[in-house]
Amino acid sequence: MHHLLSAADLDRAQIGQILDLAEEMALVQSRPVKKLPALRGRTVVNLFFEDSTRTRSSFELAGKWLSADVINISAKGSSVSKGESLRDTVLTVAAMGVDALVIRHHASGAPWQVSQWFAELGIDARVLNAGDGTHEHPTQALLDAFAMRRHFRSLPGDQDSFAGRTVAIVGDITHSRVARSNVILLTTLGAQVVVVAPPTLLPSGVGSWPIRVSSDLDQVLPEVDVVMMLRVQRERMSGGYFPTPREYTIGYGLTRDRLCALRPGAAICHPGPMNRGLEISADAADAASSLILDQVSAGVAVRMSVLYRLLGGAE
Ligand code: CP
Repeated sequence: MHHLLSAADLDRAQIGQILDLAEEMALVQSRPVKKLPALRGRTVVNLFFEDSTRTRSSFELAGKWLSADVINISAKGSSVSKGESLRDTVLTVAAMGVDALVIRHHASGAPWQVSQWFAELGIDARVLNAGDGTHEHPTQALLDAFAMRRHFRSLPGDQDSFAGRTVAIVGDITHSRVARSNVILLTTLGAQVVVVAPPTLLPSGVGSWPIRVSSDLDQVLPEVDVVMMLRVQRERMSGGYFPTPREYTIGYGLTRDRLCALRPGAAICHPGPMNRGLEISADAADAASSLILDQVSAGVAVRMSVLYRLLGGAE
């Protein structure tokens, strides 16, 4: 693994190695002094062209706790706001001698494009996709798998395998890079994935994905081990994808009433940020079976693991 651009860059063994190393990193996260010397002398740049709370801060913490030098650049406040192109921006940053570039961009494929420019110009910096448009968000899928695996291990029987597990991904599939990366990663791990959405929020190519598709949340809920609710991405919607927010909630929201349909031991995930009261009720978000804050904690450990594997000499 030279870059991490897509969940498809990882086979099952590599995912297992990243999650296992993340377990070690999580021990550091719970210490009073959160510091390892592993990436001393290495430089990581977080280049964010879209807003973020979880991904940017957890990549920053991950780099700092591994002793890398980390700087953050966002479109607002950089020369991007003066019209500098993506190519000029990344080549400028790379010319300073950075070791890794963590990129979030509104254009699908932007991190891949950066990796191509680096290859053409012989630049050795690693590229990590921190979310590109509606395409992929591979470290989100890794941290989701980490939180799910820990949950499975906590259940009677101590089964941490994804084989035989069913994960429902519910809501705005069309605009969701989280859904795309999770479908790839979870199916690589052997889980069955069912996506649940109104037809207007299903992408045109979904029929070729290795998953089941449903538009009936009430039918799917009783059979799942994990239900992952997705944010309705109103900022990416230009037309009417559903009649009203209330009707969306009635059809596809994880309401208090729907919690009763979940099996004992079934867990609730959401990548955040949440629209409470739209795709997920407060009762569901704050339920004992909710892994939402576990997902956030996992974000730091998993990103430490990924940074170490890319920069620490493991590959
Ligand atoms: N889940 C996620 O990517 O959240 P942020 O947009 O806050 O980084």
